[in-house]
Amino acid sequence: MRKLTYFIACTIDGFIGDESGDASFMYPFVDEEFLSYLKAEFPETISAQGRRALGIHDLEPRRFDTVVQGRGSYEVALKEGITSPYDHLREYVASRTLAESPDPHVEIIGDDLVARVRELKAGDSRFGIYLCGGSRLAGELHEEIDELVIKTYPVALGTGMPMFGSGFAVTEFALDEVRVFDNGVVVRTYGRKS
Ligand SMILES: NC(=O)c1ccc[n+]([C@@H]2O[C@H](COP(=O)([O-])OP(=O)(O)OC[C@H]3O[C@@H](n4cnc5c(N)ncnc54)[C@H](OP(=O)(O)O)[C@@H]3O)[C@@H](O)[C@H]2O)c1
Repeated sequence: MRKLTYFIACTIDGFIGDESGDASFMYPFVDEEFLSYLKAEFPETISAQGRRALGIHDLEPRRFDTVVQGRGSYEVALKEGITSPYDHLREYVASRTLAESPDPHVEIIGDDLVARVRELKAGDSRFGIYLCGGSRLAGELHEEIDELVIKTYPVALGTGMPMFGSGFAVTEFALDEVRVFDNGVVVRTYGRKS
């Protein structure tokens, strides 16, 4: 089985954006050192637009060949006229309201989200699946998440969009790796304890 990894940026107090989901206040922390790390370790999690701007569009993936995101996250790209924000990956968008995909490269998952994600996890690939968010989708898929990679930025918000948009029972994860950057960003990797 390949892993479903929730790779997400958040504040010290666990919010992935302000109450509307806007995470643009986190961008200044993507400085030279941290960007070098992302390019080296997670190049496929950078959007296609970002990869082109950085001149790394041809970089091979290191961990993921598939991305799953909710319609809310996908809207952020759509609002900018981008219909395939991760055109270097197999792209899936969960939505019950998007009757038709705005892009032939993007497959909509309308029904049976968990079953479809289980099918993707059972697929034959040495690469994992990048769960991009957002909050509500991560909540819906929490039982399927095998790994968390949490980029914590050194800011607190007090209120905002939580990492998981719905509640669930205590779920234990084991800390596998911690990376600390000069600007205060910390990246923690956790594996689900079975
Ligand atoms: N900090 C970060 O790293 C980060 C990363 C990603 C996103 N974000 C932020 O997160 C925000 C979006 O999060 P969000 O919680 O509002 O939305 P979301 O989780 O991205 O998407 C929610 C939508 O997904 C669809 N969905 C959810 N469960 C489903 C199911 N079981 N079956 C089919 N479709 C399902 C529904 O779409 P329909 O309504 O169309 O049915 C639902 O409205 C954005 O503002 C973005 O900026 C932050």
